[in-house]
Amino acid sequence: MEEKINIPLNGMYVFKPHEEFVKKANINDPSVYERAEYDFLGFWEELAENIDWFNKWDDVLKWEPPHAEWFLGGKLNASYNCLDRHIDKLGDKIAILWEGETGELRTYTYSELLAATSRFASALKNLGVKKGDIVTIYLPMIPEAVISMLACARIGAPHSVVFAGFSADSLAQRINDAGSKLLITCDGYCRRGKVLNHKGKSDDALSKSEFIEKVVVVQHENNDVSMEPGRDVWWHDIVKSSDPSCEPEVMDSEDMLFLMYTSGTTGNPKGVVHTTGGYMVGTYITSNWIFDLKEDDIYWCTADVGWITGHSYLVYGPLSNGATVLMYEGAPDYPDKNRFWDIIEKHKVSIFYTAPTVIRTFMKWGTHWVYKHDLSTLRLIGSVGEPINPSAWLWYYETIGGGRCPLVDTWWQTETGMILITPLPGITDLKPGSATRPFPGIKAVVLDDFGNELVDGTGGHLAVKTPWPSMMRTIYNDEQRFIDTYWSKWGLETYLSSDGARLDKDGYFWIRGREDDVIMVAGHRLGSAEIESGLVSHPLVAEAAVIGRFDDIKGQSIFCYVTLESGAVECEELRGELVDHVIEEVGPIARPKGIVFVDEMPKTRSGKIMRRVLKAIANGEELGDVTTLQDPTVVEDLRRKVESFFERC
Ligand code: PRX
Repeated sequence: MEEKINIPLNGMYVFKPHEEFVKKANINDPSVYERAEYDFLGFWEELAENIDWFNKWDDVLKWEPPHAEWFLGGKLNASYNCLDRHIDKLGDKIAILWEGETGELRTYTYSELLAATSRFASALKNLGVKKGDIVTIYLPMIPEAVISMLACARIGAPHSVVFAGFSADSLAQRINDAGSKLLITCDGYCRRGKVLNHKGKSDDALSKSEFIEKVVVVQHENNDVSMEPGRDVWWHDIVKSSDPSCEPEVMDSEDMLFLMYTSGTTGNPKGVVHTTGGYMVGTYITSNWIFDLKEDDIYWCTADVGWITGHSYLVYGPLSNGATVLMYEGAPDYPDKNRFWDIIEKHKVSIFYTAPTVIRTFMKWGTHWVYKHDLSTLRLIGSVGEPINPSAWLWYYETIGGGRCPLVDTWWQTETGMILITPLPGITDLKPGSATRPFPGIKAVVLDDFGNELVDGTGGHLAVKTPWPSMMRTIYNDEQRFIDTYWSKWGLETYLSSDGARLDKDGYFWIRGREDDVIMVAGHRLGSAEIESGLVSHPLVAEAAVIGRFDDIKGQSIFCYVTLESGAVECEELRGELVDHVIEEVGPIARPKGIVFVDEMPKTRSGKIMRRVLKAIANGEELGDVTTLQDPTVVEDLRRKVESFFERC
């Protein structure tokens, strides 16, 4: 990404925090960094005091690499921290301000959100859900998604939220890995004015899963759905008769709070396990310090609840801070391209957290959509999910932030649970395109292949050398994969992020994106292998290799190389059919932007496809060393095929 940037990166653009902001910032004392370094455990212990514990911890950290346990012996409940503890002071404050795609508004005060959560938690218990049972939630951006998560947390049932845009197959795969007996879904939801039949998709998934015994269905759109007697129940029916109060379960700090499936380098998504105490401490404090949340802020994070950003910075982080969280159901350009700015103006949003793709898309659509609106309520803006190139950064800073709002570019991952590299808006000088410095207490480094630290601006691998409270604990059902994926390259004490980065002379991190076979499309994480297995399940596909191609709006787009079974004819119809097939198998977010039919894949002598070569060809880059290819002549054929594909496009 960085190479495509056309403005200088020599540090001439440095934005100091504005004095007024610094004065009122939740954290404005730079010595916090040193404090975290010289008393690492004391630092985290002090921050843990921000969470309400039923029982305090005995020890702050047990670190048996790569296994960390935080706040050992501490007892708490995440939903209690997001709800009950605010009621005395903030009971009437709006917790969730929801806007549907059609313009419908719903609000929940903290008291109302607690009531709704408790009722639903009781209903889950009535359906037989017990502490430790994993509940799968397959809901779009509606308040019931948040209520479901908090209700699960309340009764100690870990949730596994599956992004509503994923296909029936993807849902089934996640249900089966988690062994969920209960699914929460809805009848339908709106996307660009069309009602999608979500229950139908859920039913397809259930036909491929043996585990689910009960399905709770939210009636959101009133579209026709079939309900299977004995299995399916309506949300509104079960909460009618359930107990309005539900005591929060006393959970151990290390009890699982949720599972979040994320893409890796094989076809099976990884169930990333997050536990309760450390996760709550990490998301609470990063929300407080990085977003500088204040009593009267209206905070809008555009991420979907189905991804980690939705978990940490739409639900647990801001709600544990007692914030007012805006939640929007639909598309940014529905009914027209005013929508996002209209929402900010109408609801007086003061903090706005979104992905670079959104910013680049609006840059393309033009500033006139923005300038029609009064965005003067904004006081802080944020970016997450992909590298933000300096020109998009500057546009965001000037056009949306009016040059007065600090822009926090936050780097983190599903696995890290909380933001790890970020500016602190009352302290850090900003450089467009850099996520700046590690959060206090985080020892992030850039390493070469042998594990030596690179501090001279040379690109290398981004790694983390200290444990942090909200780090993933393991991969569900696959401890070995946890060790192999994250902790084997430089020993068990160093976390491998799989991102490339470089560190400049001021100690600022410049993240360059994924180094593995994960593709980030518009901030959404997809595995090459998942899309490949979708493609090869088509009867005419013999082999498939999927790579990320540079895309100036979405960061990366999905580009596929396909070899066909003998006798199959390469044609546009088949290309279209394969696109539809991937959407069916994985979901619309995995829609391939290009499919090129090739005669042969570039393979090593051991038969492994060299994706690096395919990536370089699709991106028009230097190939590098190809001597390990079994047949180096395939490269020319591949090049020709790709060129002729682009000529036709
Ligand atoms: O490549 C990095 C990119 O998003 C990946 C993690 O994806 P996921 O687990 O889905 O979580 C996304 C939201 C936290 C990372 O490996 N990424 C995330 N934030 C940034 C980023 N790349 C550059 N800059 C960021 N601020």
